Amino acid sequence: MHLPISPPTVNSPNDYVAEHVRSIPRSGIRDFFEIVQSMSGVISLGIGEPDFVTPWHIREAAIYALERGRTGYTSNLGLLRLREAITDYVAEHYSVRYTAATEVLVTVGVSEALDLALRAVLNPGDEVLYHEPCYVSYSPSIALAHGRAVAIGTREEDEFKLRPAALRAALTPKSKVLLLNFPTNPTGGVMTAAELEEIAAICRERNLLVITDEIYSELSYHEAHTSIASLPGMRERTIFLHGFSKAFAMTGFRIGYACAPAVLIDAMMRIHQYGILCAPIVSQEAALEALLRGRDDMQQMREKYRLRRNFLVHKFREMGLPCFEPRGAFYLFPSIKSTGKNSHDFAFGLLKQEQVAVVPGTAFGASGEGHVRCSYATAMEQLEIAVQRIARFIGR
Ligand SMILES: Cc1ncc(COP(=O)(O)O)c(C=O)c1O
Repeated sequence: MHLPISPPTVNSPNDYVAEHVRSIPRSGIRDFFEIVQSMSGVISLGIGEPDFVTPWHIREAAIYALERGRTGYTSNLGLLRLREAITDYVAEHYSVRYTAATEVLVTVGVSEALDLALRAVLNPGDEVLYHEPCYVSYSPSIALAHGRAVAIGTREEDEFKLRPAALRAALTPKSKVLLLNFPTNPTGGVMTAAELEEIAAICRERNLLVITDEIYSELSYHEAHTSIASLPGMRERTIFLHGFSKAFAMTGFRIGYACAPAVLIDAMMRIHQYGILCAPIVSQEAALEALLRGRDDMQQMREKYRLRRNFLVHKFREMGLPCFEPRGAFYLFPSIKSTGKNSHDFAFGLLKQEQVAVVPGTAFGASGEGHVRCSYATAMEQLEIAVQRIARFIGR
């Protein structure tokens, strides 16, 4: 006998979409850049990717891999030779040694690595704390993993560092993960070893797991970069994420990696194994070439970014827009408060009147209000024209 069961209410296809997905807003950056793409003559300081093409020998390694018929799946964890090169690179540059066989997972960019890390560790309602303004995908990625995103505002007066007192104030019994990104997208803020040690002490005391997104770490312009994973007692409670997109100008190859204690990598690998299987083999071969022979290219690109950064900081200050000198990454995050406009109106006004695209600071969280993000992963000639147009816009 069939019991009468009332069907779920469906008034439109939107009712099929899961509630936690429905509540995620579309990226503010995407909407803005759809408008940019529909216009001509725009100078874009909006894109978060290197303007350099991937160095030739790295592209050649990808071509050569195809020529050799390297077209199949790899181990779920990634090519062992690549994982070995990653462990050597991480040991040399970040002073933490991982075991290639069990403690490294090659992923489809840091994006996938972050998603896996969150999904592997969060139970519904667990809180993930992160400093803000921050990369646009942190809050949605946490929500998609059924966690609760807890933003900790950082301030220009503090050079956009995460202050221990602010972290303590945000802690609750549900706090499980601290997500860090230094140098920071969009502010260019960094933390010194001593400052990170204060954060690490809280993590040890409160048993927090740290997920550290080190994607801009090679692009540090002043002090040597320190990873929180290298501090005493932190390796066992840290998932270290890194990739090739920014430092080696390899965004389209979609390669990243996670290093962590074996049980955490195993948990992430089980999700990766069913969802993705493995990162593309051609991209893995290219990444291996980047680690083995790409360091000079990286340094040359960093020097170009540094010159552009110096130029932009000087020009913005000259225009009367206060501007924190970014210590890393390739973004400037000037304050536009003195113009009397909010960051949305500033960015849209600048685009409409002067055809220069910058990203409203609020795209990176509420604490980004009063700022805009300008990427200097843009050719110097373009930057020179852009600053003239911005000066004219402000003068109006
Ligand atoms: C802080 C940060 N993390 C991760 C990513 C994504 O990197 P990937 O290309 O490796 O997925 C970006 C890209 O802009 C980023 O800014």
